Amino acid sequence: MEKVIISPSILSADFANLEKDIKRAEIAGADWIHVDVMDGHFVPNITIGIPVVKSLRAITNLPLDVHLMIENPDQYIEPFANAGADIITFHYEAEIDYKQIKDTILKIKSFGVKAGISIKPKTNPDVLIPYLNEVDMVLIMTVEPGFGGQKFIQECAEKIKFVKEKSNKDLIIQVDGGINDITAKICKSYGANSLVAGNYIYKSEDIVQSIKALRN
Ligand code: DX5
Ligand code: ZN
Repeated sequence: MEKVIISPSILSADFANLEKDIKRAEIAGADWIHVDVMDGHFVPNITIGIPVVKSLRAITNLPLDVHLMIENPDQYIEPFANAGADIITFHYEAEIDYKQIKDTILKIKSFGVKAGISIKPKTNPDVLIPYLNEVDMVLIMTVEPGFGGQKFIQECAEKIKFVKEKSNKDLIIQVDGGINDITAKICKSYGANSLVAGNYIYKSEDIVQSIKALRN
């Protein structure tokens, strides 16, 4: 069976001890580290940005999976790539039109970084069709972006099936929001092969066990 990529979201980690929490995830078998970047405009919350990604690059060899929940993402691709991002995902809703989305994808790839496109819960997955052959990853949000610890929206997960049917086999289909051992099973059954989890991993007593439960 295909290996599922587990990407712990450090939004739920201890920001005063990020290095420690990233090492814990590394030892527990995490595949990527998910970094949620929020600007207070695209979403009603502000988190971390380029300097933090640069500092994290120095302390881990795990791929940095950077989820941009910001307006004008095209303006920030170069600094995030230079800071050490391995995957950069931007939001479909943050871009103006087809051309800007295509250009953003090309820009991400020009730095040798994997390109991801994400849709919010209310966005129809049809909008992704023109880009499915261009991107490396689609991120289906299963909560409204902005905060960790929210409840999984089952109807959003059904979009995974649609994307899976329309895409080639190499596309990474990631889900983010309310992922735990139970919702992970649902998403995997629909075809997701990358799971982001914040609270389920970082608020658990046993992080090794949580990562294992997401995988199996
Ligand atoms: C929400 C973020 C998520 C968040 C997920 O806007 O994109 O990555 O950290 O947190 P949980 O897994 O707690 O729902
Ligand atoms: Zn995220």
